[in-house]
Amino acid sequence: DAVERGEYRHYMQKEIFEQPRAVADTLEARIGSGGVLSNIFGVDGEKLLAKVKGLHIIACGTSYHAGMVAKYWIEDYARLPVSVEVASEYRYREAVVPQGTLLIAISQSGETADTLAALRESRRRGYLGTLAICNVPESSVVREADLKLMTRAGPEIGVASTKAFTTQLAALALLTLHLANEQGMDAARYSELCEQLQRLPRAIDEALQIEPQIVQLAERFVHRRHALFLGRGMHHPVALEGSLKLKEISYIHAEAYPAGELKHGPLALVDEDMPVIAVAPNGPLLDKLKSNLQEVRARGGELIVFADKAAHIDGATAGGSILRIDAGGDFIAPAVFTVPLQLLAYHVAVLRGTDVDQPRNLAKSVTVE
Ligand code: G6P
Repeated sequence: DAVERGEYRHYMQKEIFEQPRAVADTLEARIGSGGVLSNIFGVDGEKLLAKVKGLHIIACGTSYHAGMVAKYWIEDYARLPVSVEVASEYRYREAVVPQGTLLIAISQSGETADTLAALRESRRRGYLGTLAICNVPESSVVREADLKLMTRAGPEIGVASTKAFTTQLAALALLTLHLANEQGMDAARYSELCEQLQRLPRAIDEALQIEPQIVQLAERFVHRRHALFLGRGMHHPVALEGSLKLKEISYIHAEAYPAGELKHGPLALVDEDMPVIAVAPNGPLLDKLKSNLQEVRARGGELIVFADKAAHIDGATAGGSILRIDAGGDFIAPAVFTVPLQLLAYHVAVLRGTDVDQPRNLAKSVTVE
């Protein structure tokens, strides 16, 4: 056990730091100077993907959050409609399946009972085909899907998923670019996004360098009972994933909202006992987010802002602490901003003395309903 963890105190920490390698492996031989290789979905895959008119994504837990990011990506860049749903709900309702819809099942283990049952149920619903995004090649989900795109995270031991999530994002980014190109994305924009994706391992590596600052920040959370995470657009799922990590391993109650929803309820909870963590990448929604942050500040809430180095936001405007991350570009930013939130959850849990790799009541893979 200690040998496998090497210099790291927990598997989770080791797996967080393995992310540059895991993401690089997932991209390896799948994207090059000419863009995304067309054969990465197999011979049938390329033909099938050419017919896709829309996508339904099903998954659970962290994998569901990866699916939520993919919805923003595929709709923004490939202009195809996407719906995302937790598998446990999807399997029990009558989803409308328009002609030409591809079903995507995302699962680290490939054995999650709800995801597998939803995939089986989808067979009766008239999909164009099914695609598994999965980390375990011999798993049930992979065996039962028509197409597969493997993440290459390697074994993930910590119950709280980390490198599985960022490698799922890498795989979904490849799919997004493939579809965007098929749908006639401008060539210059396409190659710019391909370059961004190829920079992702390095961008994650740089984001990991923030760990010493996170260790200090974590001290401010040790005695907290609640926390609120905010993000806008494709960073809302990042905020959800950050809050999930915190509750899973530190047992602090955490919620995540798209920042514009603050005024419709959660603002009532904000006082000096409520830390608010905001993800603030650069982009058109930044000004909106700044005004959301001022609403928090005005209520005495403690603000922690993870901001893109390129974003025009400072401690004074935000009214709180700013931690700067180089997002590496608007496309890959969700994967990069996930990293400091994983580190925050990890170090808060360590300080609180919880069983980081085996949090109470949770299982790595939920194979029963
Ligand atoms: C469990 C794990 C989560 C995981 C979820 C889905 O709840 O504790 O970390 O995200 O299952 O697992 P999957 O293997 O399908 O991605």
